[in-house]
Amino acid sequence: VPAYSEVTPDVVDVTAWLTPSISLNIPLVSAAMDTVTESEMAIAMARNGGIGVLHRNLSIDDQAAQVDVVKRSESGMITDPLTVNPEVTLADLDKLCGKFHISGLPVVDKENKLVGIITNRDMRFIASEDYDTLKVKDVMTKENLVTAPEGTTLAEAKEILRRHKVEKLPIVDKDFHLKGLITIKDIEKAEVYPNSARDEKGRLLVGAAIGATADVLDRVAALVEAGVDVLVMDSSEGYSYWQKHCLEWIRSKYGDTVKVGAGNVVDGEGFRFLAEAGADFVKIGIGGGSICITRETKGIGRGQATAVIEVAKARDEYYKETGIYVPICSDGGIVHDYHITLALAMGADFVMLGRYFARFDESPTNKVRINGQYMKEYWGEGSNRARNWQRYDLGGSTKLSFEEGVDSYVPYAGPLADGVQTTLYKVKSTMCNCGALSIPELQQKAKLTVVSSTSIVEGGSHDVVLKNATPSIMNG
Ligand code: IMP
Repeated sequence: VPAYSEVTPDVVDVTAWLTPSISLNIPLVSAAMDTVTESEMAIAMARNGGIGVLHRNLSIDDQAAQVDVVKRSESGMITDPLTVNPEVTLADLDKLCGKFHISGLPVVDKENKLVGIITNRDMRFIASEDYDTLKVKDVMTKENLVTAPEGTTLAEAKEILRRHKVEKLPIVDKDFHLKGLITIKDIEKAEVYPNSARDEKGRLLVGAAIGATADVLDRVAALVEAGVDVLVMDSSEGYSYWQKHCLEWIRSKYGDTVKVGAGNVVDGEGFRFLAEAGADFVKIGIGGGSICITRETKGIGRGQATAVIEVAKARDEYYKETGIYVPICSDGGIVHDYHITLALAMGADFVMLGRYFARFDESPTNKVRINGQYMKEYWGEGSNRARNWQRYDLGGSTKLSFEEGVDSYVPYAGPLADGVQTTLYKVKSTMCNCGALSIPELQQKAKLTVVSSTSIVEGGSHDVVLKNATPSIMNG
């Protein structure tokens, strides 16, 4: 229900707390599902101000490598740039550059002293048949290297790069040890994506899912080493001994330096259990996901609105008692864009979406044409199609005992940036109607009312013959 308002969407701030110490510029997180979040999605999410949670149906090495790809994709200054040794062949250099999608590397000796730089420009006139015999030292640029000292700002770096007409600026200490790298691409990307969500080093934020599995300790170590910003315990049921145990283990090994979200829960009791165990945020939702049949198969779960309202109350009480604010995430079941606003108004700090993001170019599944319409595939993590049976099985067996998710298609929706921009405009517009300038203000001011089925019918277009009958559910 609208409240008195004197704000317009352009002044509404949708900054959201992911954990007590990490904020996002938009309250959206892409789900840890193999049909939704791999590095391409995670990069797009962070560029647009949110964060993606890399799924865990990957080997430890592959998941950590994806974290690495996101962290290296763009940054203010790359503090541990990839480098190459002068003795490496051009063939190996070519493979390395291809793997990380980069066009050149600083060349360092065994003591990490800069001895040259090798870029596309140096390689341009070398025939590919010479790649196996020629070495980096034979073709790299070693005279008049353009470098800058530690502490150089991005603006200063831009000016140096412009003056010398080069694209990469190695940062060195007084003994010429390599300390970092600033590239024109990163400077430009920071300008193109001014709303991007970044860590203190200017790198894009990324999350990664973990589970209470036998290899979890190794997985956590590899993800932390790769620079992950937040770990997300990925389970359909979070009110469990396993999650508490896992959280305690992470705390004992890493203290507060590693941030961990836990879940999923659907009531205040489950929230308090995870908050006391040390969770940095708690996810809410069992059975509400679009591809989810948990409630049908097992009769467990809860209506998402009731769950969010109750957990939000528990979060506020916990905050009053302890002074610790543990953000909560509404996970699953968002169909229309306004559901995001509703979840926030009911008390969620941010939302996690699967179906919504699976529709975009950046999700990992194929775009297929069905009956003349482009679709993307989307299946549940608890379906036979996914390999994430551990998320649902309580242990013991090595396969899924029964399915809790379905295999489906969702209508293709183009690039993520366009979709998210439209969605957020709608969210901000509703916030304006509630007179709320920020998410905390929306939570405080929103006046929610129960609606009847008649009200839902009259809320859509009705009693007219539509000229262009695209079901709105298909378009978010
Ligand atoms: P959606 O945004 O409505 O598509 O819901 C996505 C959420 O559903 C995920 O973030 C998970 O919490 C949950 N989920 C994913 N796969 C399954 C499944 O197979 N069964 C039940 N829930 C699932």
